[in-house]
Amino acid sequence: MDDGADTIGIIHSDRKDLAANVIAGTEETTTGVVRLKSMERDGVLLYPVIAVNDADTKHLFDNRYGTGQSTVDGILRATNLLLAGKRFVVCGYGWCGRGVATRARGAGANVIVVETDPLKALEAVMDGYSVLPMLEAAKQGEIFVTVTGNLHIIRKEHFEVMRDGAVVCNAGHFNVEIDIPALEALSTGHSPTRDFVEEYRLTDGRRIRLLGEGRLINLAAAEGHPASVMDMSFANQALASEFAVKHRGTLEKKVYGVPHAIDAEIARLKLESMGIRIDALTEEQRKYLESWEMGT
Ligand SMILES: NC(=O)c1ccc[n+]([C@@H]2O[C@H](COP(=O)([O-])OP(=O)(O)OC[C@H]3O[C@@H](n4cnc5c(N)ncnc54)[C@H](O)[C@@H]3O)[C@@H](O)[C@H]2O)c1
Repeated sequence: MDDGADTIGIIHSDRKDLAANVIAGTEETTTGVVRLKSMERDGVLLYPVIAVNDADTKHLFDNRYGTGQSTVDGILRATNLLLAGKRFVVCGYGWCGRGVATRARGAGANVIVVETDPLKALEAVMDGYSVLPMLEAAKQGEIFVTVTGNLHIIRKEHFEVMRDGAVVCNAGHFNVEIDIPALEALSTGHSPTRDFVEEYRLTDGRRIRLLGEGRLINLAAAEGHPASVMDMSFANQALASEFAVKHRGTLEKKVYGVPHAIDAEIARLKLESMGIRIDALTEEQRKYLESWEMGT
């Protein structure tokens, strides 16, 4: 079954009586997996969970290409802005952030990345993006997207230095990545200018445009991920559930990865469905890769 945060929360709080009948759960989202791993660490997880998000055929495609495309789609549908030449700030250079950054750059935007993880920041630098602390990016950006899974990425001190007309939106976690109460506190009032666009008027006359009430913009203003990328995510859900049922009673109350064989099979099936054929290793190549006697 697909656990969503609500189901997990309910079974682990008010309805613990249900847990005994649960064979296992599967978790679709990055944030959900983070929470479940922390529950495992604290010894409060009541049944095994398979982290579907961590499968390569999930996050490399759904998070990167699905969120990347649909987030830009949501921004464009909501604002009809021209991305070419805009300074476009992506907060978080994880799988979703990479996708958003690639698509925004493809549309001609100058992408600025904000990160807290040095490795991801370095990757963004070498992928050719500008990398700045949030306070600096806040001064320069014209469009902002948060995709971190974290809290209050854009907050009071950032709103205070933003340019007039800056557009802010979130494609990460619930509606908590942008500190909306802080924006409200800085504003004399707000009103809609278009569907999904709320314009906040600050005391000094600047305007900041919040899209989709700070909720996931790809779902609020666009249609979410295309089916042709969700197919792999749902194949992981289905095959991970089958795996859990087949291994009923042998899994511990831990967070497990999707078995590699399932991941590889989904990639193979996806390629087949796209009519794309690839080579197989020759017997000689397979032996060469497996041996230590040759070529060392
Ligand atoms: N909109 C959608 O349809 C959709 C789809 C998939 C995932 N998500 C959500 O998007 C979020 C990101 O997912 P992901 O798979 O890219 O996760 P990820 O873990 O790969 O990336 C998140 C990145 O954010 C960075 N980060 C954390 N705090 C930060 C901060 N204060 N400032 C700047 N960077 C910070 C992390 O270092 C990390 O590199 C999650 O909440 C996930 O659930 C949304």
